[in-house]
Amino acid sequence: MAAFLVVILTLFLGIAILFKLFGISIFKENPAGLPDGSMGHFPFLGETLAYLKPHKSNSLGFFLQDHCSRYGNVFKSHLFGSPTVVSCDIELNQFILQNEETLFRSSYPKPVHDILGKLSMMLVSGDLHKKLRSVALSFINASKSSPAFLSYVDTFSLSFVHSWRSKTRLHFFKEAKKLTFYLMVKNLLSIEPDDPLAQNILEEFLTFMKGFVSLPVYIPGNAYSKAVKARRRISSTLKDALKKRIKIMENGSDVRGDFLDELLKKDSLNDEEKVSVLLDLLLAGYETTSGLMALVVYFLAQAPSALQNLREEHQSLRKTKKDGEPLNWEDYKKMEFTSHVISEALRCGNLVKFVHRKALKDVKFKDYTIPAGWQVLPIILATHLDPNLHQRPLEFNPWRWTDPASNRKVTPFGGGVRICPGAELGKLETAFFLHHFVLNFRWKTIEEDGPMSCPYLDFKGGLMLEMEQIE
Ligand code: HEM
Repeated sequence: MAAFLVVILTLFLGIAILFKLFGISIFKENPAGLPDGSMGHFPFLGETLAYLKPHKSNSLGFFLQDHCSRYGNVFKSHLFGSPTVVSCDIELNQFILQNEETLFRSSYPKPVHDILGKLSMMLVSGDLHKKLRSVALSFINASKSSPAFLSYVDTFSLSFVHSWRSKTRLHFFKEAKKLTFYLMVKNLLSIEPDDPLAQNILEEFLTFMKGFVSLPVYIPGNAYSKAVKARRRISSTLKDALKKRIKIMENGSDVRGDFLDELLKKDSLNDEEKVSVLLDLLLAGYETTSGLMALVVYFLAQAPSALQNLREEHQSLRKTKKDGEPLNWEDYKKMEFTSHVISEALRCGNLVKFVHRKALKDVKFKDYTIPAGWQVLPIILATHLDPNLHQRPLEFNPWRWTDPASNRKVTPFGGGVRICPGAELGKLETAFFLHHFVLNFRWKTIEEDGPMSCPYLDFKGGLMLEMEQIE
């Protein structure tokens, strides 16, 4: 098998080198209005490897910097096996996101389908997308307005933070993933953190994420193939949970009032769709929120005056609460500076670098034409760091959010009909966690281990913190 792969790879590279030597391009000449750019010289791959090269997530990275300075903020390329228009222009990005289903459609490369499953909300469109999204939205809205859930987020975050009291060093990113994962499995499935099943699903998710961020080529035993298998196992665990709960409900006993109970009442969804919604929410709900917590903690360690301001906000809020009284929705709404800190961490840290779309017809925008069938990549990160939109964009400055106009210049949660339904829930969990963290600890990062875009957010050293408990 290995020898066969080596032969294929050698042939592939040989052909690519011949193409490059003789200046042959496999791509058609520019249709009129197509943005300037380069399709690369490698068949199929085009410029994908250069595009995917990891870089600091609070920077454009070499590829985007180089291409924007050569060709402008909108350029053509060949990425993930398709001819592509890359947009680092906020107006074009918003135009693309707002015209979902009419001019553009969400379209992810085939390996992403194998890993997310063909019914994932990110991949389906039209009526099926609407149906799955409305179920996810009803779950998220119910969670936000459930005092019991908010109280659980508060007490669980506090107990998690307390469990770090004896520690002077902490791999923060891993811990944050555990925290947000346990919150999601409790809320969705009523599985308690000490249940071995929670541990088992978490391990599978960690394998899943390793493959999700790896080169998406199926070679038995590699990270990608392990992830495809881990997804199948998670899926079958969730199916079992569904079946068990149906039995419990049939016996008329022990109704938990969690999302699973609600999901089972949805006759419009078949079992496969129900499992897929569960999987989408688990994945999207824990991976992103833990990334947001890590970004906030990282940037605050470099910004003492912002941290001081934030701590004062939470000290004042604490004074309004009785001993042990949990935080609620009203408290969250009072956390004004906290919300600025979160918005600024999202802008600087870029949890999501870009999203995938495809043009459904020839689309004209300003002087450009995007041909039908071309892939389109709105680069969220590039607009967040654009000096024409944000003064001193590389500076972490939460106070810039006191100007409400700032909100119109960022899209950390995407836009249009696919705008992230979990935005407020992710921010709330982060805010409640921060409340307890800033009141209990001082911390610093111990080595240069900033957020990286790989292209998914990662910290090479896991964001190791040096911690000191506040007496
Ligand atoms: C906290 C930080 C978060 C960020 C930065 C974030 C970002 C995003 C972005 C950019 C998209 C749009 C993808 C696209 O247009 O292709 C998205 C979609 C989505 N997000 Fe989030 N998200 C976050 C938290 C959450 C949470 C907590 C949940 C669930 C509890 C969630 C659930 C989803 C779902 C289900 C979609 C798919 C929506 C659709 O296709 O209609 N997200 N998210």
